[in-house]
Amino acid sequence: MHKTAKRNVGYLIGGTLAIMAATSLAHAHGGATGIVKERMDLMASVGKSMKTITEMFQGTKPYDAEQVRAAARFIGTHGGEQTTKLFPEGSINGPSEALPAIWQDWDKFSKLADDLSVYARALADAADNPRGAGMGAARRGGGLSSGGSPMGRSNPMMGSASGSPMNDPAVLATMAPNAAFARLTQTCSACHTQFRKKQ
Ligand code: HEC
Repeated sequence: MHKTAKRNVGYLIGGTLAIMAATSLAHAHGGATGIVKERMDLMASVGKSMKTITEMFQGTKPYDAEQVRAAARFIGTHGGEQTTKLFPEGSINGPSEALPAIWQDWDKFSKLADDLSVYARALADAADNPRGAGMGAARRGGGLSSGGSPMGRSNPMMGSASGSPMNDPAVLATMAPNAAFARLTQTCSACHTQFRKKQ
């Protein structure tokens, strides 16, 4: 009896939070319709997962490999074609922040969409690995706009799966999760820098 009541309260709170989240999402995307709304919603949910992950790498929340893996997997399933299919040519209207450059440099755009899945999956695979030294404070305040890498030296614009072994997802999966996390944040900012209106 008591147990059931408790569960119901938990259910109510969960339900209320879900409604609140949905409401604020709708508000932020006011006026967006159709495919533009769909991709803004997708990006917003990717952003939410990324926030969970980022807080743990910045040390503002305790690191929880299980949560990192779940959030990274979620992002991993939304890159590649799941992203590119929401950008039919010229679909810029309403509150969209997408830039026409997307269709002028489609190869690069879709490569970055692929990288989103590649590095999110690498992070999911690496989530249980020992974390690198000094990582808590190292990236504090960096957030999504920072392309800085805890490995130093690497070029933030090199966020591509080819080239340096540091960009090889199979190698990243065996390393400290912060390396994959850095590649993932670089992928977000590389795409936003070139293909999304400045905030
Ligand atoms: C392949 C390119 C690309 C990648 C990679 C990418 N984004 Fe985006 N993102 C965009 C574009 C383009 C928009 C603007 C879409 C629009 O307004 O039509 C956007 C919009 C957003 C928004 C605003 C959504 C809203 O509420 O309107 C957030 C948040 C966001 N991205 C987070 C992220 C995060 C976090 C990552 C990395 C984990 C990421 N994005 C990776 C292209 C990308």
